[in-house]
Amino acid sequence: MLSLSASSGQALSKHEPQSAYMNSSLPLGVLISGSGTNLQAIIDAIERGELTAAIRVVVSNRSDAYGLTRARRYGLPAVVIPHKDFSSREAFEAELIRTLQDHNVELVVLAGFMRLLSPFFIRAFPQRIMNIHPALLPAFPGTHAQRQALERGVRISGATVHFVDEEMDHGPIITQAAVPVYPDDTEKGLSARILAQEHRIYPQAIQLFAEGRLEICDGKVINHNEARFPAATLRSPESA
Ligand code: GRF
Repeated sequence: MLSLSASSGQALSKHEPQSAYMNSSLPLGVLISGSGTNLQAIIDAIERGELTAAIRVVVSNRSDAYGLTRARRYGLPAVVIPHKDFSSREAFEAELIRTLQDHNVELVVLAGFMRLLSPFFIRAFPQRIMNIHPALLPAFPGTHAQRQALERGVRISGATVHFVDEEMDHGPIITQAAVPVYPDDTEKGLSARILAQEHRIYPQAIQLFAEGRLEICDGKVINHNEARFPAATLRSPESA
């Protein structure tokens, strides 16, 4: 089922390429479809020296994605691969894979990329694709997660960074942040509160990967940095 270790039940040792980047920059490929505020948060974290990574390429499946403008502003290679130009999902994904490999990408970062990725793509980057989702997974996978949270009347929602496996919004969870849901919340207000947390935890999760601190064991992520960053794992409603 999974391209990750969960299916085998085996503990994966820290794999070489992760730790190989401990003294250099982890090469990232960021996939976007829209505004790209998470891309911006990653760029800002790199600029502040908090994230030891380099964005090698930004790829969008939409030519009107504002994230492309953000990328070009920083001189980052920004490539448009319109999914509609391809006769099949596999042909589209083959082009994505080729582009990411051409730029020597080691970690694929999904930042508001609105296309489902098939096992064909996922197997090209085993345990090397991260996604961020605007809910506390496994609650509210899929689209309109914030609306789902409001409709269900939960008191707490949040954001989740996870490795991507072959099921949607499902793979091993790396980190989460919680935010309160207020009785008079709107989808817009809740989305903004969650997005602020996304911008905080996505660069942190990538940095943990860059430092080789993430292991996947039985479908769960072991974070070797957990003790150092207890507050980064959970943000309580009181402090949000
Ligand atoms: C975020 O809410 C993210 O969780 C979801 O898509 C949105 C992307 O926003 N996957 P942005 O393009 O990074 O501003």
